[in-house]
Amino acid sequence: MKKIIIIGASSGIGKELARLYAGAGHFVGVTGRRQDLLYLLQLEYPNQFVTECFDVTGNGNIVHLESLIHKLGGLDLLIYNAGYGDTHKDLDWGIDKTTVDTNVNGFIEIVNYTFNYFVRQGHGHLATTSSIASIRGNGMAPAYSASKAFQSVYFEGLHIKTKVMKLTGIHITDIQPGFVDTKRAKADKKFWVSSPAKAASQIFRALEKKKWRVYITRRWWLIAKLAKWMPDFIYHRIG
Ligand SMILES: NC(=O)c1ccc[n+]([C@@H]2O[C@H](COP(=O)([O-])OP(=O)(O)OC[C@H]3O[C@@H](n4cnc5c(N)ncnc54)[C@H](OP(=O)(O)O)[C@@H]3O)[C@@H](O)[C@H]2O)c1
Repeated sequence: MKKIIIIGASSGIGKELARLYAGAGHFVGVTGRRQDLLYLLQLEYPNQFVTECFDVTGNGNIVHLESLIHKLGGLDLLIYNAGYGDTHKDLDWGIDKTTVDTNVNGFIEIVNYTFNYFVRQGHGHLATTSSIASIRGNGMAPAYSASKAFQSVYFEGLHIKTKVMKLTGIHITDIQPGFVDTKRAKADKKFWVSSPAKAASQIFRALEKKKWRVYITRRWWLIAKLAKWMPDFIYHRIG
């Protein structure tokens, strides 16, 4: 049975992933700021869930992470799933700051610690929930797309590092969802919207296969490729 931590599991994709892993018999550390939701989730699998309530934009990330690892008795897989972003016509500093604090600063502190933990241990699997928004700039949420690009590019770097350093026991997965039906799905016109349960089930299978990058749902691969190769003069009218 694996020991898994999901940073940001009180709702949405993270909560459904936590349920899948607990249902498969694994031990799961779940985090978030909403203690009441973590408590309700823990009631579903009291012997398999441990919780730690904290804000990834605060100063105590590593203390909380170490506490969770201690409660689980080790760590095999960590998924950095906490995320924030919002659309804004005006360039709102509050939104931009919270986005970067959550998706970049909290992310890198936890991911950096965990990668080094896995190097010392000789094995482990590190995943992040980035976004299709990582591929190009977004006029309505520039900080969000930039912060998700940071995550995906950082993870590509970590993936290469495992190859160069021959860290054969360490696996890296960059998860890029399109629209998933949660409060994070922000757009005037949404399409191919998946339920959090379906998204979690596809992520679960991709992580089992140790894929290095995965699009959720799978057909978002097409949008990813279109967005990546679309000429600027077209993308800049719609992005
Ligand atoms: N929904 C989509 O369409 C979509 C598309 C692409 C990528 N994503 C990404 O998928 C991930 C999961 O999002 P979701 O759609 O499932 O939305 P969600 O239901 O809002 O889940 C976000 C999770 O992150 C946690 N979180 C957010 N800010 C936090 C903070 N400062 N400190 C600690 N925990 C924090 C939340 O817990 P608390 O609120 O309890 O703290 C919650 O458990 C995010 O990274 C998001 O960017 C979503």
